[in-house]
Amino acid sequence: MNSPIYDKQTLRLCSNNTADLITAANILKRGGLVALPTETVYGLAANGLSSAAIEQVFRAKNRPLVNPLIFHVTDQNQALKLFNFDGNDRRTLRRFSRLASTFWPGPLTIIAKKADYIPGLATAHLDTVAVRIPHNQVTTKIIKECAVPLVMPSANLSTRPSPTSAFHVLATLDGRIDAVLDDGRCQVGIESTVVRIDLEQVKILRPGMIDRHAISLCLNETIEDNFSSNNNKPSCPGQAYLHYSPAINSVKTCLPSDAHCRWQSEDMFLARRKDFLALEKQMGPRPTATTNFVLQDEAKFYASELYDALYACESYMHKNLIIVLPQETDSSWTAIIDRLIKSGGIKANQHSNDRKH
Ligand code: TXA
Ligand code: MG
Repeated sequence: MNSPIYDKQTLRLCSNNTADLITAANILKRGGLVALPTETVYGLAANGLSSAAIEQVFRAKNRPLVNPLIFHVTDQNQALKLFNFDGNDRRTLRRFSRLASTFWPGPLTIIAKKADYIPGLATAHLDTVAVRIPHNQVTTKIIKECAVPLVMPSANLSTRPSPTSAFHVLATLDGRIDAVLDDGRCQVGIESTVVRIDLEQVKILRPGMIDRHAISLCLNETIEDNFSSNNNKPSCPGQAYLHYSPAINSVKTCLPSDAHCRWQSEDMFLARRKDFLALEKQMGPRPTATTNFVLQDEAKFYASELYDALYACESYMHKNLIIVLPQETDSSWTAIIDRLIKSGGIKANQHSNDRKH
């Protein structure tokens, strides 16, 4: 794909203004792109049944065409129409009904065989489709008003962290999209759990804040963790390349026990409060001019603050970030640790293309 010049006037719309909701829906109806809030992260919405609109999403995000999109709907029937459950596949249908009834609207994306009419571009020509009902009133209103499912990848340039505020959306997509609908901060803060249900064993392809334990309890089955930070094999096409990375010099992850050697350096630190305080007790205060992102101890709150910290550290684009990994085996931390590991390990200049935009 050629990279067009981007000089759109990106409209700033406000979720408590009815006229702005109508404007957002009208832009989507005529094939445009609007960043919409969800409970997880902001998504870049487009008409999911229009190949032309879907193509614009890939272009605006600079997203590889091999990375499929998630369809967002407002009720289970609308979701069922996107799937093609073989008449005999009762097991998949039973799993769908249980998961959808338990977790929707909410941060769970369900993957199964797709219906034939779905544009191939949206699913990277796979035979499956990803669907979820987001938990956000204004976005639900807009999907209903559009009367079509909306595709919504996270509203960021490819490789960068997902946005949890309209401000983050504009940090990478200002001028590249038609509008952003500001609805304040996203509560969950990291992307939905992605689960594939049409195979012998249900697989988690991307961990999220609905963890394996909760899905296993809902389905009364054992669930396989099948994501790349767990087994090094990308199972979601989108997990195969650089992700969740702030545009700074470098990001490195380490365990609390290995954090000592950089403690007195100029590097930025991102750590959980209890790990930061333990290091401070042992090593003394960090140099005064350094920047530290100290996140809350509870997984739920840590997740909701994480991407805000990653965007904040972009103010220091020539610096390095050291992420102190929480040493937790509890499944409530799995998704967070997955994102931290993926955002780590980037080299200087890897973002040089992004900065041109
Ligand atoms: O919370 C979320 O899921 C957010 C909000 C906006 O809903 N959306 C989001 O979309 O994170 P995106 O495009 O950034 O991530 C979608 C992930 C990618 O890793 C993609 O590879 C995977 O879902 N995916 C989508 N369709 C798939 C399919 N048919 N098979 C396997 N993986 C799929
Ligand atoms: Mg994304």
